[in-house]
Amino acid sequence: MTPPISAWERMVHVNLGSRSYDIVINEGGTSQAGPLLAAWLKLDTAQGLRVLLVSDAAVFHVHGASVQRSLEAAGAEVRAAIVPSGEQTKSYVQTQALYDHLVDMTADRKTLIVAVGGGVTGDLAGFVAATYARGLRFVQVPTTLLSMVDSSVGGKTGINHPRGKNLIGAFHQPLGVIIELATLKTLPDREYRSGLAEVVKYGVILDEAFFAFLEQNIAGLNSRDPEVLRHVIARSCELKADVVQQDEYETTGLRAILNYGHTFGHAFETLAGYGALLHGEAVSIGMICASRLAESLGRINPNDTRRQRDLLSALNLPVCVPSDLLDRHEDIVRCMMLDKKTEARELRFVLPTRIGHVEIVRGVSPDIALQCLVSAGQH
Ligand SMILES: NC(=O)c1ccc[n+]([C@@H]2O[C@H](COP(=O)([O-])OP(=O)(O)OC[C@H]3O[C@@H](n4cnc5c(N)ncnc54)[C@H](O)[C@@H]3O)[C@@H](O)[C@H]2O)c1
Ligand SMILES: [Zn+2]
Repeated sequence: MTPPISAWERMVHVNLGSRSYDIVINEGGTSQAGPLLAAWLKLDTAQGLRVLLVSDAAVFHVHGASVQRSLEAAGAEVRAAIVPSGEQTKSYVQTQALYDHLVDMTADRKTLIVAVGGGVTGDLAGFVAATYARGLRFVQVPTTLLSMVDSSVGGKTGINHPRGKNLIGAFHQPLGVIIELATLKTLPDREYRSGLAEVVKYGVILDEAFFAFLEQNIAGLNSRDPEVLRHVIARSCELKADVVQQDEYETTGLRAILNYGHTFGHAFETLAGYGALLHGEAVSIGMICASRLAESLGRINPNDTRRQRDLLSALNLPVCVPSDLLDRHEDIVRCMMLDKKTEARELRFVLPTRIGHVEIVRGVSPDIALQCLVSAGQH
């Protein structure tokens, strides 16, 4: 008999009317995907349920297979589709390959897609779920810290166009999200820290007490202490869910606050060249630049920038603009203008006024923005 969902220790409810769902954090070492799925579908067993499990090549053998076993043990019939690891997988080619799997298995509306992996796997599998047969049910089992606290919350799915990231996509909320904390044990160090940058971001934009919790738990964060992680992941999901609940389709502008550090960050990520800066590393530097910009506009106390810089440094994240990017003023401004957060060719930034609160500031001159590049590196 399936245990009631309340038996799972930590849960975040994402309240979106008929599209509401739960994010469950499972701390045990064995996958709970099978019993959870049965509980969500209100079935005693998953007998007869057909699942397309999508996982990336690096994740499938370490974690995807155990999710598959858990689903099969609950009675589901599972077909595994393994996609290559890496951002290039968010492509038409891989989308087509997953549609082919669904056609081969004569999928219908009752077929379920389960994504096991990071944001790449989740975005691709979610997009296929959103579009095949006008929408299939979809469950995410995120295995990177970034996907646990960011990409699996909020319903954005999509793939890249050869000329732009995430240009093809759809909003499609999952049936549920299953976070298996044990999967983080195998995540490479840089990927883990990159996810921590988004966690710090939530503290700066929305929750001073959470930011202070991070400052007080640096050792636990660096050692991936499960107790600390459980709280950090749950609180991050709650904070993002709260924003998404108020602006599900990005129409009121509130959701834009999640882009703190990202206008500068995207420029650095793009210009540094492939793989030189991970997304979270670029966002870490971008947050310091944005906070320095807020300082130069007289909007924030320098001590609040120092707190962010100290915390990010203690988490081994970069806080200085790489020296080879410092002089590329025109390129940086061009990238920031291209960023989808800019409107009518004016620079727009999410800037903090104190830890726990940000505002959207329009019409910042490129010169003032560029002055923060160097000063962001000064301690
Ligand atoms: N949908 C959204 O709202 C949203 C939000 C933020 C980011 N994103 C997207 O997310 C993507 C980035 O996600 P990501 O950082 O998770 O990258 P990713 O999915 O590429 O994973 C990073 C790397 O870690 C490996 N990996 C994943 N889990 C592992 C584990 N437990 N153990 C060992 N290796 C593991 C993967 O194979 C990959 O090489 C981008 O495409 C971005 O656009 C989407
Ligand atoms: Zn981000």
